[in-house]
Amino acid sequence: MTAILVTGGAGFIGSALIRQLIEATDWRVVNVDKLTYAGNLESLADLAGHPRHVFSRTDICDRAALDALFATYKPCGVIHLAAESHVDRSIHGPGDFISTNITGTYILLEAARAWWSSLDPEGKAKFRFHHVSTDEVFGSLGDTGLFLESNPYRPNSPYSASKAASDHLVRAWHHTYGLPTVLTNCSNNYGPCQFPEKLIPLMIHNAVSDKPLPIYGKGDNVRDWLYVDDHARALQLVFEQGRPGETYNIGGHNEKTNLEVVDTLCALIDELKPRRDGRSYREQKISVADRPGHDKRYAIDAGKIERELGWTPRESFETGMRKTVQWYLDNSAWVAHVVSGEYRQWMDRNYGDRQ
Ligand code: NAD
Ligand code: DAU
Repeated sequence: MTAILVTGGAGFIGSALIRQLIEATDWRVVNVDKLTYAGNLESLADLAGHPRHVFSRTDICDRAALDALFATYKPCGVIHLAAESHVDRSIHGPGDFISTNITGTYILLEAARAWWSSLDPEGKAKFRFHHVSTDEVFGSLGDTGLFLESNPYRPNSPYSASKAASDHLVRAWHHTYGLPTVLTNCSNNYGPCQFPEKLIPLMIHNAVSDKPLPIYGKGDNVRDWLYVDDHARALQLVFEQGRPGETYNIGGHNEKTNLEVVDTLCALIDELKPRRDGRSYREQKISVADRPGHDKRYAIDAGKIERELGWTPRESFETGMRKTVQWYLDNSAWVAHVVSGEYRQWMDRNYGDRQ
């Protein structure tokens, strides 16, 4: 049976990707995740015990453990998502971002290269190392223009600098050693199972918990939003059909200011779960100190992946946001377990033997 390693599969995008791969392929999907604060196997509760989903609690900085996984499962490739992913955390404590995003990617590249070098010519030609990265490596845009794959790298936060460094390592491993790599740079994702430190799940959770909705600065920073399942489909496509050595931008054509995002969320929650006093959740918005070095605008030109691989997003901002709000309202237990830390006990009960 064909096997693939997915790192960071217990995270937000990784769990959506694992579900996509299990549904759309007959591959064995080996989920390699350290289970940091952001790793949550409750996001994959529907796949607990699935014969083609194998979970391994492994740190990508552990070379011996990675070598053992390659030898055991003989994967035809890796999709690498494991990372520290939150910009605000990187500002307060960059250390984990350097070790996981840079050193961890280096160690994973070396383990993958050792495995790939041992394959026969056919296996070597088929193998892919797919590195999942972010549009934040390109820095910040002014009022106009879009990020193209050819844009220079200008990362501004410790998070984006660590991702930029990992992208450069991947490029070098292709150029120097011939490792068949593909790289994707995606815009802001939203959807089910996102850790409620990120803008959209945080705002939904705070709104229904009668808490303030903290807007950094004026709320006029722009992000380009993509529904997570659209990203997962794009990742599978690039893994299967992307050209080695190439990079592909992925984005949703949904540029919104943060205020527009929060107002859209408030309107949806007003409709789906009205406040008891009949007033709008908008009244909970407050302005707070801006993020240091806050990038003004991100916007993706996703023309290359559309032209070469035929990918376009299925969800519009309106349909994706409605689905998302509905999911968080319907899955308040998932959010409550994350906020209370109860998700750790859920993992111990259901995956204790594999951690
Ligand atoms: P996330 O924080 O939700 O999940 C990260 C996962 O990686 C967690 O399950 C965590 O336990 C795991 N992990 C962290 N350190 C590890 C280590 N040392 N070894 C093994 N596992 C480890 O992140 P996400 O939002 O799902 O992002 C996934 C990837 O996609 C990241 O590489 C991120 O840079 C990239 N990305 C994210 C977005 C976005 O909007 N969220 C957009 C573009 C790209
Ligand atoms: O662009 C892709 C990136 O998108 C990914 O690489 C990152 O992993 C992901 O976290 C995301 O980064 P952002 O910094 O854009 O996402 P975040 O949800 O933290 O913030 C979105 C915007 O909302 C940003 O302009 C900051 C603002 N914000 C955020 C929070 C958490 C607020 O105004 N208030 C908040 O409380």
